[in-house]
Formats: sequence, structure tokens, C-alpha cells
Amino acid sequence: MKIFFIGFMGSGKSTWGRLIAEQLGKTFFDLDDIIENRVNMKINDIFEKKGESYFRKIEGVCLRELHELNDFILACGGGAPCYFDNMALMNSMGVTVWMNTPKHVMATRLLEEAEHRPLVKGMSPGKLQEFIDDKLEERLQYYSQARLVIDPTAITPKDLINQLREHA
Ligand code: S3P
Repeated sequence: MKIFFIGFMGSGKSTWGRLIAEQLGKTFFDLDDIIENRVNMKINDIFEKKGESYFRKIEGVCLRELHELNDFILACGGGAPCYFDNMALMNSMGVTVWMNTPKHVMATRLLEEAEHRPLVKGMSPGKLQEFIDDKLEERLQYYSQARLVIDPTAITPKDLINQLREHA
């Protein structure tokens, strides 16, 4: 089974992805790590020096290359499902899980970790809130195509594993 965790920055994709992979004995990948290794640059530097469209292109290429692998869990960057036909591709390859985390939880995390994320770096709390509202609204059309939708603050990893087994 291939499982794709999607959702906004700070929604908990990597944490949950890693945890579920461990419990199911599957390999875990983080798409941002794959990109950083491929380009040999940090995400922040890729955005700064090469631009977002270059990043999106590499992101799409790295996602497509996973086609050849079986049985893994991938945490995608927040924008990955929203470019090219990435969302349809992931739905055709395996089970997509949208981490539909409450906005205030993501905002708190993003305020703490903004420096590692080029899209929210240096934003004031007010500006960040506005950014989350706008960007999330724009991205809902993609995220909502996920096969499974969870609120990670309302269920346990065990609940998700049960849901995944039903969709296998
Ligand atoms: C992005 C999310 C980031 C990373 C890049 C762009 C986005 O990943 O891919 O900074 O467009 O939402 P995380 O969602 O893992 O922070």
C-alpha cells in the first residue's frame, strides 16, 4: 500500500506519517527531504535562489519517481497536491489522507517554526493568520479530493490505522 499524507503546513503530516509507518512496518519518506537531497539545497534556499516554480517542478518530478516503489508512506509538502495533476496521480497510486487540522493549531506551530518555511518566513502573527485563511481556502479544492480526511486532534493513530485497513 502507498499512503500519502497531505495538508497544510504545520498540519502534522510528517509526525503522523512517521508514526504510522513505524506501526505498520513501512518505509517513510518526506517529499521535502527527497527534494533537498536531489538538489542538494535546503528548501528555503531553493525558493530564494531558484524560485518557487523551479521548486514545484522538482517536487512533481520527485513525486512521479515514487511510482516505481511499493509499500511506503509519504509526507508531502503542503503545496504538492495543488500543482500539475499531482493530486490525481497520488489518488491513482494509493490512499491519500488529508490532515484537516484546526487552523489555530497550525498557526501556533507555524509561528514557532516559520524560519524553515519560505512561504511564511518573517510573518507577524496577524499576517500569518491571514495567509493561512487565504491559502487554505485556495487549496481546499485539492485537499478535499483526498480519500480519507482526518482531524488529528480528534482521533488516535490507531483509529487511522483501522480506517486505512478499510481502504486497503
Ligand atoms: C510548502 C510547504 C512546505 C514545503 C515548501 C512549500 C507549501 O512543506 O514544501 O515550503 O507550499 O505549503 P510542509 O508542508 O511540510 O511544511
